[in-house]
Amino acid sequence: MKKRLLEYLACPSCAGALRLTARREDGIEVMEGELACDACARSFLIERGIPRFADLAELERDKQATAEKFGWSWQTFTHEDEKYAAEFLGWIAPVVPSFFAGKVVLEGGCGKGRHTRRVAQWGARDIVAVDLSAAVEVAFAATRGLENAHVIQADIYRLPLRRAFDYAFSIGVLHHLPDPRGGFKSLVSRVKSGGHMSAWIYGAENNGWIVGLVNPVREHVTSRMNPRLLFHLSKVPTAVMFAATKLFYGPMNRSARGAAIARHTFYNDYLNFVSQFDWREQHLIVFDHLVAPTSFYISREEFESWWKEIGAKDVVIGWHNKNSWRGFGRIER
Ligand SMILES: C[S@@+](CC[C@H](N)C(=O)[O-])C[C@H]1O[C@@H](n2cnc3c(N)ncnc32)[C@H](O)[C@@H]1O
Ligand SMILES: [Zn+2]
Repeated sequence: MKKRLLEYLACPSCAGALRLTARREDGIEVMEGELACDACARSFLIERGIPRFADLAELERDKQATAEKFGWSWQTFTHEDEKYAAEFLGWIAPVVPSFFAGKVVLEGGCGKGRHTRRVAQWGARDIVAVDLSAAVEVAFAATRGLENAHVIQADIYRLPLRRAFDYAFSIGVLHHLPDPRGGFKSLVSRVKSGGHMSAWIYGAENNGWIVGLVNPVREHVTSRMNPRLLFHLSKVPTAVMFAATKLFYGPMNRSARGAAIARHTFYNDYLNFVSQFDWREQHLIVFDHLVAPTSFYISREEFESWWKEIGAKDVVIGWHNKNSWRGFGRIER
């Protein structure tokens, strides 16, 4: 960890200040050490450069399973894709890169750190990226050279952070939590008054076929199987999607006449969007859907009620690829 992260940290038990003891440093990173709370006497290790606030062995069973599966996933699909930046902006619209300049940013569930790195490069004063799983090892490696990027291993429900953030965002994470609304509120609680929040979640609308056909298989079979086996088995549905997107959805949507026909076909907006990605990324998309032990599909009405409940202002909720919801709003207290 970089020492300037201390400015944002607070004890997750009592919100007291944390004291750093560095045992091994490497350039700007404290690689091994300890963060101690003098108020409640709790302490947290820094291991391999990452402060560890979550003890996976002590977590509830469903959170443990989620962390285990996504940890494996992000440690396997470590690739970068040049299209990630545009994809990220699609998930956080109407936010644009210049929005980040000078802001202190919180990322809830950073996975391999693909957005963390980008936000740091777009000029955020600091970004603190949180994830529960071993994906933090990949996120740390991806952001090591960036003095304004920080990665911590923690549970979204027990953030070891002060209310010090100008902006918080969470992409594809809240629907994997046991209580998505509670996770949303926990992130919002660390945003200063006048700051902003973005979230992107799976939608209930248009996803009836996933809820009816894919979810039972995911819940009872694929999320329980050895991830290495799923890695190989998931190549079969990936091959179907890859062929459909590269041979039909992509080419059809590129011409005006084709697009007029394609627009009436199954899941067109999403499959046209996916058609831009190569095999590796499409494999990740399929694997990611099948590996998750918990996934909620959330209606617009439900999502709107989260924003109402926190009293957010100027909320913009958008339909993304006609299968998911993105939201952005201002936090006023
Ligand atoms: C689908 S991935 C999305 C990762 C990243 N936002 C992205 O778009 O690449 C969901 C991530 O949420 C993390 N996660 C799940 N439950 C969590 C929790 N309770 N606290 C923090 N992170 C959690 C997982 O470990 C995983 O990395
Ligand atoms: Zn404490």
